[in-house]
Amino acid sequence: MLNPNLRLNWLLFLFLASFNFFVNADAVNGVRDNVKEVRILHEFYDKANNNNFTLVKYYTTWCSHCKKLKPIFGTMSKEHTSLDIETLLPNTFFNKTFFDLPNFFNTKTINIDYMAVECEIFGAFEICKRWPGYPVVELIPPKTNTSISISTSKEMTENSAQDDEEEDPMWLRVFTKIDKFFERMFSGSSDLDDMSFAERSLELSGSRSETGLKEFISKGVSSDYERLLIDYLINRSVDGTVNNEIIDTYKNWIGNLGNKFVAVNEIIKTLKTGIELGELDDDVKRDLLFQKRLLSTLIGIEEQERIKNSALDEL
Ligand SMILES: *[C@@H]1O[C@H](CO)[C@@H](O)[C@H](O)[C@H]1NC(C)=O
Ligand SMILES: *[C@@H]1O[C@H](CO)[C@@H](O)[C@H](O)[C@H]1NC(C)=O
Ligand SMILES: *[C@@H]1O[C@H](CO)[C@@H](O)[C@H](O)[C@H]1NC(C)=O
Ligand SMILES: *[C@@H]1O[C@H](CO)[C@@H](O)[C@H](O)[C@H]1NC(C)=O
Repeated sequence: MLNPNLRLNWLLFLFLASFNFFVNADAVNGVRDNVKEVRILHEFYDKANNNNFTLVKYYTTWCSHCKKLKPIFGTMSKEHTSLDIETLLPNTFFNKTFFDLPNFFNTKTINIDYMAVECEIFGAFEICKRWPGYPVVELIPPKTNTSISISTSKEMTENSAQDDEEEDPMWLRVFTKIDKFFERMFSGSSDLDDMSFAERSLELSGSRSETGLKEFISKGVSSDYERLLIDYLINRSVDGTVNNEIIDTYKNWIGNLGNKFVAVNEIIKTLKTGIELGELDDDVKRDLLFQKRLLSTLIGIEEQERIKNSALDEL
């Protein structure tokens, strides 16, 4: 008896092999790009958890917005494959400018990989199931260890209306149901779903133009840096072995903060009015968003501890 995971992958492989004939027509026409088309689930996780940033496109062959995205994504996969990290790093926190931030990334340039997931094929798996419609573009940062789970940063935008996602047509919903049936039959296949990458990934909510995508990548990289910085600040200030200007400033800021809920509300108010009046410059806005994210993380940690303690009290 074949291991059920293997069997499922094997079935997918056969299914895909029969598709290949049509898909290859593109390559024949010379439209080659550097987008890695996922064929089996392991390929997805290999890329999602490697040392590069990965831009993932989730699509279906029928959706028209997906067709529009394809050439843009293809071009970018050839032309936009690395970024100079130093231009993206934030360096102002708590009203203070730092010139010497911890170096979490080993190099000055980061690489961007491109990956495409056809959700007619992977519809039964969590990587696709979590989306309400297609296309979706997601940026997955490299797998770096953090000791805590950091709240995701939601940009406060003046206008975050997404352009229309299409609803699944009837036949696809039926297809997905059949897929789910197979998934249950080979129960154990859900072990393949390791969604831990989703904690650090970001979903595009703006325009899918080339400019929009580039901006999204830059924002995503600096947001990931902030995630590592928050972990660094919270972790090192507790463990006491690191003492530098950044940790000192952080401790000072926390010490003068007072109630965290009140502080977070103040920040949100400042952001709102500042944005409405167009009075915030980018550095200040970024600083405030960072503070908000850091406070949300701290509040989350305290809340978890409170729940844990009250559960212990009941014993
Ligand atoms: C940052 O500076 C502004 C303006 O000087 C001040 O209103 C604000 O309270 C400061 N924020 C922090 C966290 O020190
Ligand atoms: C990361 O990107 C570089 C440059 O594009 C590439 O050579 C390398 O193979 C990628 N790393 C992995 C693990 O895919
Ligand atoms: C992340 O943590 C795991 C387990 O603690 C360890 O084996 C691995 O080397 C760490 N990776 C990095 C990049 O620090
Ligand atoms: C700090 O990080 C290290 C390594 O990831 C971890 O072992 C330690 O528990 C963390 N400390 C705190 C206070 O989170």
